[in-house]
Amino acid sequence: MAKDKIIFYCQSCGAESTKWMGQCPSCKEWNTLVEELVSSKKSAHKVSRQEIKAKVTKLKDIETADKERMTTHIAELDRVLGGGVVPGSMILVGGDPGIGKSTLLLQVCRNLSESGKNILYVSGEESLQQIKIRAERIGEFGDTLSLLCETNLDVIGEIVRRDLPQIVVIDSIQTMYNENVASAPGSVSQVRESTGSLLQMAKGLGIAIFVIGHVTKEGVVAGPRVLEHMVDTVLYFEGDRHAAYRILRGVKNRFGSTNEIGVFEMRSFGLEEVKNPSEFMLGGKPEGASGSVVACSMEGSRPILLEVQALVCRTNFGMPRRTAAGTDYNRVNLLMAVLEKRMGFQLGNCDAYVNIAGGIRMNEPAIDLGIILALVSSYKNRPIDEHMICFGEVGLSGEVRAVNMAEQRVLEAKKLGFTVCILPEVSKSALPDIDGIRLIGVKNVKDAVSFAV
Ligand code: TYD
Ligand code: MG
Repeated sequence: MAKDKIIFYCQSCGAESTKWMGQCPSCKEWNTLVEELVSSKKSAHKVSRQEIKAKVTKLKDIETADKERMTTHIAELDRVLGGGVVPGSMILVGGDPGIGKSTLLLQVCRNLSESGKNILYVSGEESLQQIKIRAERIGEFGDTLSLLCETNLDVIGEIVRRDLPQIVVIDSIQTMYNENVASAPGSVSQVRESTGSLLQMAKGLGIAIFVIGHVTKEGVVAGPRVLEHMVDTVLYFEGDRHAAYRILRGVKNRFGSTNEIGVFEMRSFGLEEVKNPSEFMLGGKPEGASGSVVACSMEGSRPILLEVQALVCRTNFGMPRRTAAGTDYNRVNLLMAVLEKRMGFQLGNCDAYVNIAGGIRMNEPAIDLGIILALVSSYKNRPIDEHMICFGEVGLSGEVRAVNMAEQRVLEAKKLGFTVCILPEVSKSALPDIDGIRLIGVKNVKDAVSFAV
């Protein structure tokens, strides 16, 4: 009888080896060899003409029975998903431990079970009692939610094929194991095999599957990168565990746009949606303090206003210290260099700390102008008008470059009561006049600084 055998593959160059080694002999990368099961069964099956004919379809003949999305009744999640859960799709939810992944999905289960969907929640981490306690905090559940504590994927597969639920939640992929693979649950090959068999289940039976994945120290889902390629949608749940709010970020989505974010707040009864994140992010903004300015960043289709803070002070040591919290460190260094070269500021003997208030991470270049103005305001110790917001990308020669969706940003600022907006000249000239907010177009950093600070 043919026997299955195990081969180790290098994840970086694809070289194979019959035994494990610390270093790949071919590409010399370390720790890249991963075991994989190879079935040695030779297929004696010859593909018939008929079969081949059925495989190819003309584009115009494909019928898109517009698959009905299931709404989760959590607006923030629905938006990140692109309008709801698509049947037959597989959604990976990653995040740090304790961030609220299980809570979010249990809330999804509650909402979907209330609208009569059949749901199976599989937990490999918690006992039925633990889930029940959590569920009691969250609220009332419909009768169509079933729970299962199991880690063997073959058993789960059998149960799913028997009960045919519309939605399956797997908490978490790292605890699941496939009997065919010898390595321990959570290892790369187990995670990949498990995802593969879940994927078959999702596509074959038209079941929407949510998979929870743990995140490693580097912030990627533990297991191979392939995992992200295999599933349809990848969502990351992030945020400071000490801050109350959490951000759900769409990283990949085959059924909608990415870069959308959903903002939640962790309460005693589970996660609550934050309907207006700008207001939330600006809560507690100091008044009349130097080094603080409001900037605007687009997250997907939604503008979010946030406070950029900077503190510039004389350094006591030879080496000036620079830190950036919530934004890119190198970007801050670059903007400081622009200030030195184009504006003649002596920042070489100053420490500088830049922070995006609220613990949120924003990397959109449109906040460049905010960082610049906050730095200058702190350097000169002059507060910036608190009814002013700014956005614009800053280039190396100190020019302020156009950003997209300027109108949405201005409207969001107006909605929150801001009366002055500094924006790139190019973006301004494309905008109509907007009542109630004064638009100041600037060509370069010098113009912006001389107006604002
Ligand atoms: P959990 O969903 O278990 O996190 P994960 O599955 O991502 O590891 O939830 C984590 C935290 O949320 C936990 O520390 C307790 C807190 N929590 C609340 O504050 N309120 C609640 O209603 C619930 C259910 C949890
Ligand atoms: Mg959990």
